[in-house]
Amino acid sequence: MIRRSPRLQLAEHERELMRSAGRFNAQLMDHLRSYVAAGVSTDSINRIVHDYTLDHGHRPACLGYRGDVCKFPKSCCISVNDVVCHGIPGDEILKEGDIVNIDITTSVDGWHGDQSETFLIGQVSDEAREITQCAFNSLYRGIEAVYPGCQVAVIGEAIVDYVRKKHPQFGVVDRYVGHGIGQRFHQLPNIPHVPSRKAYQDRLYPGMCFTIEPMINGGGIQSVCDSRDGWTVRTADGKWSAQFEHTLLMTENGVEILTLTEMGPQPGHRF
Ligand code: MF3
Ligand code: CO
Ligand code: CO
Repeated sequence: MIRRSPRLQLAEHERELMRSAGRFNAQLMDHLRSYVAAGVSTDSINRIVHDYTLDHGHRPACLGYRGDVCKFPKSCCISVNDVVCHGIPGDEILKEGDIVNIDITTSVDGWHGDQSETFLIGQVSDEAREITQCAFNSLYRGIEAVYPGCQVAVIGEAIVDYVRKKHPQFGVVDRYVGHGIGQRFHQLPNIPHVPSRKAYQDRLYPGMCFTIEPMINGGGIQSVCDSRDGWTVRTADGKWSAQFEHTLLMTENGVEILTLTEMGPQPGHRF
């Protein structure tokens, strides 16, 4: 049965609030980019995220976010090399050759923007660059696939089709998914990057906001969550992993990317 989701379909004034939240989140990412370099600790990047957000009167949504096991202790996620997602900023120092995903989510007047980018630190291996490029292209394959009223599954179909054809040695993570977003950080529908049965039932109607955030592993899709911190997810085989994320608004005329400014990597960007 196909059912509309009126609760998830925002009115025009609410869409404007989501556009503002996405714009602020994107400006925070713009502010961050120049600090991401070899020799910098992930904690110092976290502090920049935290201070910029509070200085502008907003709230870092990750800080104290409640997972299954424990509260997230920092204001953003920073996932280096074999960390798939949910890395906790700390005393790790970024070094030449690393790939590092920074995932920031802010709450602006109660509405959320959520995005991530993977950064190359200096010269990286050909494989690390290819994983990163594959994750970036996968995000845009997903964005280009959606249209008003489409099945959520068109996103996963487009991503899996692309990765199978162009990077068959890489894995598309299925355990962690994109999500609806609005006055809640995570809400329905789930947005899987590998089509699920539910994703053929769920549809993206005008007024719905959601994220696409594919994680691409250099090897298998199996991962292990760190039992000590309850958050850090690493690849089981030790291969590296990359991710990109945008917050999107479906409209009557097609999809809008809410978390992209002219300073961010544009569609078609080459790493
Ligand atoms: N930003 C992540 C996402 O894209 C979620 C992080 S939850 C946290 O959905 F608690 F780890 F911050
Ligand atoms: Co997200
Ligand atoms: Co995110």
